[in-house]
Amino acid sequence: MNSQDLSRVTMKTKRLTLREFQDADLAAVHDYAQDAETTKYLEWGPNTLKETTVFLNESLGFQKEKPRVTFDMAIIADSDARLVGACSVTIIDKRKNIAALGYVLNSKFWGHGYATEAANALAKFAFEELGMQKIMATCDALNFGSESVMKKIGMQKEQKLSKDKFIKGSYRDTLVYSIERAVWMQKNSADVAQ
Ligand SMILES: CC(C)(COP(=O)(O)OP(=O)(O)OC[C@H]1O[C@@H](n2cnc3c(N)ncnc32)[C@H](O)[C@@H]1OP(=O)(O)O)[C@@H](O)C(=O)NCCC(=O)NCCS
Repeated sequence: MNSQDLSRVTMKTKRLTLREFQDADLAAVHDYAQDAETTKYLEWGPNTLKETTVFLNESLGFQKEKPRVTFDMAIIADSDARLVGACSVTIIDKRKNIAALGYVLNSKFWGHGYATEAANALAKFAFEELGMQKIMATCDALNFGSESVMKKIGMQKEQKLSKDKFIKGSYRDTLVYSIERAVWMQKNSADVAQ
């Protein structure tokens, strides 16, 4: 555990690099954050440039936390070094070692398996580097793409919260998914053995 420096985290996957945000990411982050389709099921957005700047500054601030709680990561496609989206791991319960995952892709890059690839790397990081016992993720019940990503990384549905959010003018249901450490470890050791 903790084989990497948690003050500057990087994760590599087959096609992606997940790295912490930089000031220079503003334009690429705003490209998806200002998009109504991308933010349709999210509690934020579509953003003004000022709102995206506040988000980015907050993310840069998280890098200075001691100990770290939130890891907001840019998703970079290795093929052309473009920022294609963002993802995050947040320790939501330090005592019980529970973390939450999040992800958002620029709609230009949907459907390439990037979110699944990134979410798998986040889960690996949360269990293997942060020592989490459980990771969770939530999505709007109508956000089938996001639910599919959760299922694809091995998460199971825990509950459906009914009309628990009021977003962009309508009441929304939320799906809560999770995976426990033992299940993740078993699944991934089985994958390695195949
Ligand atoms: C949800 C999101 C992250 C998926 O990103 P992505 O990179 O396109 O996802 P993947 O390519 O890894 O797809 C994973 C699976 O979801 C399916 N999927 C993706 N979008 C879908 C949609 N709108 N409806 C149904 N299934 C969908 C894919 O077909 C794939 O399954 P398959 O491999 O069996 O074909 C992306 O659409 C997004 O950023 N949406 C806006 C932000 C958001 O909703 N974030 C999640 C917040 S909870």
